[in-house]
Amino acid sequence: MSNKKPVRLGLNVLASGRHDAAWKTLPDAAKLPTDIDTFIRIAQLAERGKIDALFLADGPGGLVPEAYERPWRAFDPVALNAALSQATHHIGLVVTTTSLFGHPHTVARQISSLDHLSKGRAAWNIITSQAPVALAAYGFDKGFEQHQRYERAGEFTEIVTGLWDSFPWDAVVADPQSGVFVDPAKLHPIDVQGRHFKAAGALSLPTSPQGRPVIFQAGDSEDSKAFGARWADALFTGQRLLEKGQNFYADVKALARSHGRNPEHLLVVPGLFPILGGTEAEALRRKDELDEGLDHTALREALARHLALEPEDLPFDEPLPFDKIEQAESRVPLAARWRRREMIKVLDEARRHRWTVRQTLRDNLTGGHRVVVGTPEQVAANIVNWVDSGAADGFNLNIDVQTDGLEAVVDHLIPELQKAGRFRHEYEGTTLRENLGLPLYRAEANRRRVDAIAA
Ligand SMILES: Cc1cc2nc3c(=O)[nH]c(=O)nc-3n(C[C@H](O)[C@H](O)[C@H](O)COP(=O)(O)O)c2cc1C
Repeated sequence: MSNKKPVRLGLNVLASGRHDAAWKTLPDAAKLPTDIDTFIRIAQLAERGKIDALFLADGPGGLVPEAYERPWRAFDPVALNAALSQATHHIGLVVTTTSLFGHPHTVARQISSLDHLSKGRAAWNIITSQAPVALAAYGFDKGFEQHQRYERAGEFTEIVTGLWDSFPWDAVVADPQSGVFVDPAKLHPIDVQGRHFKAAGALSLPTSPQGRPVIFQAGDSEDSKAFGARWADALFTGQRLLEKGQNFYADVKALARSHGRNPEHLLVVPGLFPILGGTEAEALRRKDELDEGLDHTALREALARHLALEPEDLPFDEPLPFDKIEQAESRVPLAARWRRREMIKVLDEARRHRWTVRQTLRDNLTGGHRVVVGTPEQVAANIVNWVDSGAADGFNLNIDVQTDGLEAVVDHLIPELQKAGRFRHEYEGTTLRENLGLPLYRAEANRRRVDAIAA
């Protein structure tokens, strides 16, 4: 590879693909959400493309209303990634789990287990969402205020990481002479009595192969950025406009620096939704054909709901009513604000291009990520431009339709990035940390933090 900055690429995994109408074009769509063979095929294909990591997004709680209209994420991401770890050898395995609900000890044990099972390829993607299904599933009557969410998330993460550091390898003595298997004097049990979570003791697993699994985080409020800059190795974000992406990138790198961190060790990976074709016209045709399968009425209802408007406020062939949208902001329930913010990012783009409601609805509204339609050369140039303009270190890719959309990425887009000297030909190491260019983790600094909150 050249000495130009390498591009990081993750893959947001959905068995049917990210386009809302993808499943309508696929046979046996009903079985896809729980079809392990499809997930394995996707994982192995992504590994053939030398993609950094499989990213399993998820939401805490039960069946989401979106599942009434399209395949949703059915499997528990820890279980699914554990299965995929045995069918792959190099690719990273990112598990999304909540830092608000459940108990941090469970998460610490699961992700450490995955790091052992995969020989150093596990990552934890920390989310702080509180959708109504999650509150209902975990028995909460109402959501948490913003500051409470990050207070909970902070304690949760202190405990998870403290547990990851609690059982150093050298504590496993396994000495037949003395009959000692684990030397308790070498353990660093935690004792955290937080406001929201309490936990004591050492984890049942010794330090995992990466020292600590990689930490991703997804969110975009000021609190989220501050939290991510402190804890995360990589931030997943939604950015549609280059200038806004540059602002986010500069902000979080500065925050990382203010925590005494090397900003290069906090990667920024926005979502990206490429739609590829052999020619630009072919790519546009592919998108149009897929878009024909969209249910515009249902999409408009969802948009109206997220903006606290009525569908009739959004006539299909007129520009978006930005005044009404702004006036309705205070009516959006607290728990739904982040979804609204993701939508507003699409609307920023709509405003810039003067899109009608219909055009806006056709631009990956539900996913919220930037859509780029074109040839592999065009999309590769776009990716490199964002990286070289200081807006991203790479992208988390959404695939329009699985698996032919991923085949196009692996066989055509990635070779363009390789030709430009911006993407690996072989994995650099055996762990996700090595492949992402992140340093090996040292436990000592974190242990002091956990001791401090326990005091
Ligand atoms: C790019 C991005 C991806 C996210 N992915 C998920 C997800 O997979 N599951 C989920 O429940 N929440 C997800 N979230 C929600 C965040 O974890 C967080 O709850 C939300 O952004 C609200 O927090 P904030 O207002 O502090 O940004 C995501 C947010 C962003 C910006």
